[in-house]
Amino acid sequence: MNKGTIKSEYGQLSDRDFRRLSAFIYETFGIYLPEKKHYLLQNRLLPRLQKLGFTSYSAYADYVLQQGEHGEETFEMINVVSTNKTEFFREKAHFDILQQELLPCFYEQKINIWSAGCSSGEEVYSLTMLLGDEKSAGHISDFIVYGNDISGRILEKAVKAVYPYQEIDSIPEKYRRKYLMRSKNRTNATIRIVPELRGKTKFVRENLVGKRDTMPRDFQFVFCRNTLIYFDKETQYKVVSRLVEHLIPGGFLILGHAESLVNQVPEGIKTIYPTIYQKDM
Ligand SMILES: C[S@@+](CC[C@H](N)C(=O)[O-])C[C@H]1O[C@@H](n2cnc3c(N)ncnc32)[C@H](O)[C@@H]1O
Repeated sequence: MNKGTIKSEYGQLSDRDFRRLSAFIYETFGIYLPEKKHYLLQNRLLPRLQKLGFTSYSAYADYVLQQGEHGEETFEMINVVSTNKTEFFREKAHFDILQQELLPCFYEQKINIWSAGCSSGEEVYSLTMLLGDEKSAGHISDFIVYGNDISGRILEKAVKAVYPYQEIDSIPEKYRRKYLMRSKNRTNATIRIVPELRGKTKFVRENLVGKRDTMPRDFQFVFCRNTLIYFDKETQYKVVSRLVEHLIPGGFLILGHAESLVNQVPEGIKTIYPTIYQKDM
């Protein structure tokens, strides 16, 4: 490994290195970094250079590019590049529509949902809370919620299912009592999702733009929210087409509020609401 010459400063991420890295990130993960993200990339990569002992961005770029798509450092880099912002019951209207209008199409069945680009799991566990109640009410026979992400570190958090106490604000009161365990630590209060719901989830490190595609193909619902925004139009179209393949006929695809597929709805699905699509029967 060439770690560059020892200097007191790390220098700048040159235009050439920005172009090499952003092209690699785009081709491998579909994440589009325009030129205006140059300094953001530089800042976010700095801790990686420091940790590994590189003294120039150029040497770091060589190292990552040599490792390629499946390299350990490639995943470390993507951990710092991707935006993992999420929250419980984010864009709440989708959960209301799911419960009141869409789920009744599949009453009495086992419900399979995929949260594509699930980050630290808040979307997955919000869905399990809703489905847990639907099961208790006798509307559905059982359920499982899959989540995938490219970031291994964020998926570790999802599997642990421990969250800062402040995050519960967006969780409806009726679920808090049933599905959350509170830590006794008063200085660093956390909550944990109950084991009954954790047991109804599966987290997989998988790239939505990669060749490997191990997700089941019998989902009634695929949620892919606030993830497509990082892709360009062409990649969005490819990813949406891929997600639709994993739906059963009549299944629903739910995108984030800012991600409507205006003028690029793939064949085989129709628009139900601006960000909700149904696969043809
Ligand atoms: C902003 S979060 C959205 C989380 C959640 N869906 C929500 O709406 O709150 C976007 C997530 O997509 C993941 N992501 C980005 N590109 C991806 C790809 N090519 N394959 C899988 N996940 C990806 C990121 O790592 C990040 O955790």
